[in-house]
Amino acid sequence: MAVLSMPDGQKVEFPVLLDAAGAKFIDIRKLQPSTGMCTFDPGFGSTASCESSITYIDGNKGILLYRGYPIEELAAEGDFIDSTFLLLHGELPSKQEKALFEREIKYHTLVHEQLIQFYRGFRHDAHPMAIMVGVVGALAAFYPEVAEVRNPQQQLRACYRLIAKMPTLAAMAYKTSIGQPIIYPRNDLNYAENFLHMMFAVPSERYEVDPELAKALEIIFILHLDHEQNASTSTVRTAGSSQANPFACVASGIAALWGPAHGGANEAVLKMLEEIDSLGGVASIPTMVARAKDKNDSFRLMGFGHRVYKSYDPRAKLMRQVTYRVLEKLGRKDTLLDIAMELEKIALQDDYFVKRSLYPNVDFYSGIVLRALGIPVEMYTVLFAMARTVGWVAQ
Ligand code: CMC
Repeated sequence: MAVLSMPDGQKVEFPVLLDAAGAKFIDIRKLQPSTGMCTFDPGFGSTASCESSITYIDGNKGILLYRGYPIEELAAEGDFIDSTFLLLHGELPSKQEKALFEREIKYHTLVHEQLIQFYRGFRHDAHPMAIMVGVVGALAAFYPEVAEVRNPQQQLRACYRLIAKMPTLAAMAYKTSIGQPIIYPRNDLNYAENFLHMMFAVPSERYEVDPELAKALEIIFILHLDHEQNASTSTVRTAGSSQANPFACVASGIAALWGPAHGGANEAVLKMLEEIDSLGGVASIPTMVARAKDKNDSFRLMGFGHRVYKSYDPRAKLMRQVTYRVLEKLGRKDTLLDIAMELEKIALQDDYFVKRSLYPNVDFYSGIVLRALGIPVEMYTVLFAMARTVGWVAQ
């Protein structure tokens, strides 16, 4: 028990709870009913908002586990389907379970033809995240049976539909923005391959997906699947707590993810690297670092710092390796990578960043890989949303 001394001398006892890793939490649920007082904790820095056995992060040690499995193992040895099954169902699938699950997901990749009309209503230059907020929410209108949110079968079907349809909806947003015909999903391809196909194939030409590049994309997806109770996941949970339609709840998560302090950081990082490049490249890094440290300047080094990680983000380590692998495979040099490396080096030695434990996060490198894969910058956060949909629905 923990004992709290109130201003009037009253002592109140609260149970102490333990999480799976042995961390202690004071259960204050009885505080308000027994004392009339509340706690004040904006940003939930000292508050666990729910109990969850899905993902575990140790921010000080730089550990990320999905259902107890280290992210490094899942990214190296598993695939998107393994990790998605794991997050949803709590354990890695057997061979048979995996085949069934994959078939189930693929069964739902098409979207209702009428939904295509929605895309026509957007301006041609609409940001794809704006389109995604709209069309994912609109899915609620196509599946009224999901109103029975307490029905486990309907819940699971909504999860499968969301996971399966997100790549289709995302690629449709891209094709709309460039005025090309929509490309339908190919269920003989895996999740990442199919997404590349829907993004880059055109009806007039044969398009071959490069399996190595698709693998790199798959790793990026695996690294983004879930991340405890972050801003977008908390938003989905809050929306879901009113038993709202799951498609509408996920649309609220997409909206929360969009901001540059969260999923929008990958787009912001690339724009920052491009700005540094246009200002003279590596030579202009010290000016940008000085701006990031200046409290009168709202500029921050995008891709640095994390709400939870106070050491190197384990996802960033893996992303760094993937970046090198992709650039090597494509036989390409990227000046933005040189700038990123130098920026990382300077920031890791700078007292300001060291004292505040500001390390590169997952988004610091992801933009460089996605750029090499030919993904346009406005789609970066959409890809994050596609992957995080798995976490949102699992949570
Ligand atoms: N550049 C410069 N200074 C920074 C940065 C940065 N990127 N991040 C934090 N700081 C400073 C901040 O000014 C503050 O300084 P002081 O103590 O002197 O006031 C201190 O570090 C702590 O900052 P904070 O805002 O209290 O930290 P936070 O944990 O609330 O914020 C963050 C986390 C991710 C919002 C923030 O680090 C940030 O804005 N980073 C840039 C955006 C970014 O890369 N976001 C992607 C996060 S990873 C993807 C995801 O999972 O969503």
